[in-house]
Amino acid sequence: MPAIDASSPADAPPLDAASSELFELRVERWWPDVLAGLGEIYAPAQVAQVAPRLLAAARRAFAERDPELRRLDLRRSLRPDWLQSPRMLGYAAYTERFAGDLRGIQDRLGYLGDLGVTYLHLMPLLTPREGDSDGGYAVADYRSVRPDLGDMDDLRDLTARLREHGVSLVLDLVLNHVAAEHEWARRARAGEDRYRAYFHVHPDRTMPDAYEATLPEVFPDFAPGNFTWDDEMSAWVWTTFNAFQWDLDWGNPDVLAEFVDIVFALANAGVEVLRLDAIAFMWKELGTNCQGRPQVHAITQVLRAMARIACPALAFKAEAIVAPSELIAYLGTTKYTGKVSDLAYHNSLMVQIWSMLACKDVRLATHALQALPPAPSTATWITYARCHDDIGWAVSDEDAAAVGASGFGHRAFLSDWYSGQFPGSWADGLVFQENPATGDRRISGTAASLLGVPADADAPVEGEAELALAGLRLAHAMVLGWGGVPVIWSGDELAAPNDPDWASEPGHEADNRWAHRPRLEEGRVARRHDRDSVPGRAFTDLAALARVRAALPHLHASVPTRVLDPDDPGVLVTHRAHPLGDFVGLYNVTPEWRSWPSWRLEDHGLADATDALTGAPVRRGDDGHVWLPPYGAAWLVAPER
Ligand code: GLC
Repeated sequence: MPAIDASSPADAPPLDAASSELFELRVERWWPDVLAGLGEIYAPAQVAQVAPRLLAAARRAFAERDPELRRLDLRRSLRPDWLQSPRMLGYAAYTERFAGDLRGIQDRLGYLGDLGVTYLHLMPLLTPREGDSDGGYAVADYRSVRPDLGDMDDLRDLTARLREHGVSLVLDLVLNHVAAEHEWARRARAGEDRYRAYFHVHPDRTMPDAYEATLPEVFPDFAPGNFTWDDEMSAWVWTTFNAFQWDLDWGNPDVLAEFVDIVFALANAGVEVLRLDAIAFMWKELGTNCQGRPQVHAITQVLRAMARIACPALAFKAEAIVAPSELIAYLGTTKYTGKVSDLAYHNSLMVQIWSMLACKDVRLATHALQALPPAPSTATWITYARCHDDIGWAVSDEDAAAVGASGFGHRAFLSDWYSGQFPGSWADGLVFQENPATGDRRISGTAASLLGVPADADAPVEGEAELALAGLRLAHAMVLGWGGVPVIWSGDELAAPNDPDWASEPGHEADNRWAHRPRLEEGRVARRHDRDSVPGRAFTDLAALARVRAALPHLHASVPTRVLDPDDPGVLVTHRAHPLGDFVGLYNVTPEWRSWPSWRLEDHGLADATDALTGAPVRRGDDGHVWLPPYGAAWLVAPER
């Protein structure tokens, strides 16, 4: 191990003795993780060259860190399970669609407070390229804010205000690629070798063709293939996503050093969680699908350990939308256990929620969720029903076969159902990125539109409309009752329908994900407390779920959720063995009354259970069974003793 020189770089502000000692203790604690991670991705000579650079950057970032953020670092160190608390409730939104600009967000604090939000993910807001920027995921400058939203001072003001309100700000860190207009890409095109080496550049088709043999396509429709010809460089550049998003070469330690600095700058602006965008794609290896290579986890380990040294209040969230069996690696398995992201999206749960609602059957979901290994106790899931992206049907052939279904057939059914093509479907989704080669059809649409909630906010809340709203509540009851950080996608709390004008904005016409990224409608906001209105029913239902959850220690995420074998194929049963007593979640995914046998209650010490959602003793029928109304949910716990 190279000797550690934790002394101040010449240009960093000086540290007093106590701060210096704290910094050195953190280095002692985390530096081995940094070196181990670096050793997995770089040759020894490269490690020797980059490690001192990283340490100097950490020291500088620590010295420059606002005293208030340093206090937050201490607070988080005293409560390392802060993200696992049932009080965590996330909300994700585009700044301009939710509140106009960063200052406008401050005016929405009351609204977020009504819902119980403690974690706010603002969609990409660092300066993107002009024109189509993939919703900001093509970043042209990581050091400034999109001018129409504000500037870095507004961002710092906002994080301070949010902290006062107990809300953590989450921002994206787009690591896999930069905009073709980013300075690094511009300098690469201008012929600077240093920057050409930041990207995957190939003079002819030999290597691109070799890689393509095993690479899937992310946007087969509007950005087919994974390489783009660049005239100025006379070469092919790796572009997994759109042609204007250039993949970075993380095999180059300079790229890592640049991003460590960016991480520190965002943390010092008060950002508390970084969402590692498209993290699965960061490492390329010939003959593979170039997703989720082990080096991805080594890089995450380095970034996280560096943050723990300079700004430990910062947490990391992996965005890896991968096959069910591969998900867990992003929370840490093998030697990476406890060393990578603090959070990762539970894509499988999301997919299974939609699958259960379409089939009115929980057997596939039960099998698929039972097959997932438990998350490490120090990390946790982001649970969600919808997000800004499409839904890809991540149902494996093996899981489908285990319940006697065909994976291909089931995925095709889900696409048919949610695009409203299947007879009897109430859904109003859109097909996204149909891939004729694989038969894949992903789905866009807001939760309300996928569930058949009337688009009209004035529609009476009765009959089918009321049932559809019960479905919306049920989906969120599963998400909030799982354990982890549930994140509500902006608009879903008001049952917002698909934006009928999604294609009218320049640059959006080919990308129907904009259908489910609606602007928050003031008319709906104003009716949020009126339970007899569509938006009010949705909002009050979600806020009530959040309130119950926040007061229910059984939902602390260090305790895993197990899915139990169903007795009725229409009722999903989850179980959490908390030291305070068992928690059983019952979710009726059908539009009919369904039950759970009474003797199961005794099995779990819940004979005299309370349904935490109603605060009343569990509802039993004459047969003693627990009866659930159409799309009903129950969170059963033993009464407090
Ligand atoms: C992530 C984002 C998605 C974006 C992609 C490329 O998957 O969620 O919206 O298109 O990364 O950055």
